[in-house]
Amino acid sequence: MTIQWFPGHMAKARRQVTEKLKLVDIVIELVDARIPLSSRNPMIEEIIGQKPRLVLLNKADMADPVKTDQWITYFEEQGIKALAVNAQGGKGLHSIVQSAKDILKEKFDRMKSRGMRPRAIRAMIVGIPNVGKSTLINRLAKKNIAKTGNTPGVTKAQQWIKVGKELELLDTPGILWPKFEDERVGYKLALTGAIKDTILNLQDIALFGLKFLETHYPDRLKERYSLDEIPEEVLAKFDAVGKKRGCLMAGGEVNYDKTSEVIIRDIRNVQLGPMTFDMIEELESDDI
Ligand code: G4P
Repeated sequence: MTIQWFPGHMAKARRQVTEKLKLVDIVIELVDARIPLSSRNPMIEEIIGQKPRLVLLNKADMADPVKTDQWITYFEEQGIKALAVNAQGGKGLHSIVQSAKDILKEKFDRMKSRGMRPRAIRAMIVGIPNVGKSTLINRLAKKNIAKTGNTPGVTKAQQWIKVGKELELLDTPGILWPKFEDERVGYKLALTGAIKDTILNLQDIALFGLKFLETHYPDRLKERYSLDEIPEEVLAKFDAVGKKRGCLMAGGEVNYDKTSEVIIRDIRNVQLGPMTFDMIEELESDDI
C-alpha cells in the first residue's frame, strides 16, 4: 500500500487514532523487527500519551534474532514491554494476551476492588503502513469478529475481535505516517519494502544497501554475488554485482538501474538472510 502523506492526511490519521484511544485500555504498537526505530511514527509518544502500550516487533522471521533480543531489551529499558512476533506464521502471538494482562494488572485489580464487573481488555493496533497490522488482525480474528451492530443511520459501530476470552481488539488499526526527515530512515524503509514507490533515487537506495551489507554482513554479500573481494570503489561494487547477475546493457556495460533493482529486491526478499538495519550502536551516535 502506498499512501501519500500530506499534512491534512497526517492530522486526520492522528485524529482517528486519538478518537479510538478513548475506547481502549492498551495500544499495541506494531513495528518492523528489522527496523524497530525507523518504522515508528515520529510522534508516537505524543499521540499515545500515557496510555499503556505493548510493542510488537513483527516480521521477526526476517530480522537478525540477536539484534531482535537487543531491541527488546532496549524497549524494556524504556519501561515498554516488547515481544518479537511473526504475524504471518503465528509465532509469538500466544504471548500477546498474557503480556497485555501483565501490563494492565494494576488497573484491572483496582477496578475489581471497586466492585466493577470483570471484562475483557480492550486493545487497538497502531503502526505505519506495511508493518503487518492487517495480517496480525486477520490472524488473531480467525472467525472471531464480534459484530456489535450496524444499524442504518447510526455511525458505523466499532467492531471488536475477540482474542480468547480476555482480549478484545478493534477490527481496524490506526495507520500513522513514517519518519520523513532523515534520509537514512528513508533508505531503510525502502530496503524493507515499507515504502515502495519512493522519491529516493533507486541507485542511492541500493548503494546504501550495499554499504550496509559490506559493513555488517560482508560474508553474506560475497556469497550471494559470488565475490572473492568487495571492491572499494562505488562503481566497481555495482559492476561486480551487475556482472554476476547479468544486469548488462546491449554493449555489455553494467546497467546500474537494473543492478540496483536486483540488490533491493534481494534484500527485501531476505535472499541474503534475516537481517536488522537499525543498530543499537547507532543510537549512541544519534545516527539512526
Ligand atoms: P499493514 O496492514 O500494516 O499495512 O501491513 P500488511 O498486513 O498488509 O502486511 C504487509 C506485508 O507484510 C504483507 O505482504 C504481509 O504478508 C507481510 N507480513 C506481515 N507480517 C509478516 C511477518 O510476520 N513476516 C513476514 N515475513 N511477512 C509479514 P504482502 O501482502 O506480500 O505485501 P508485500 O510483501 O508485497 O508488501
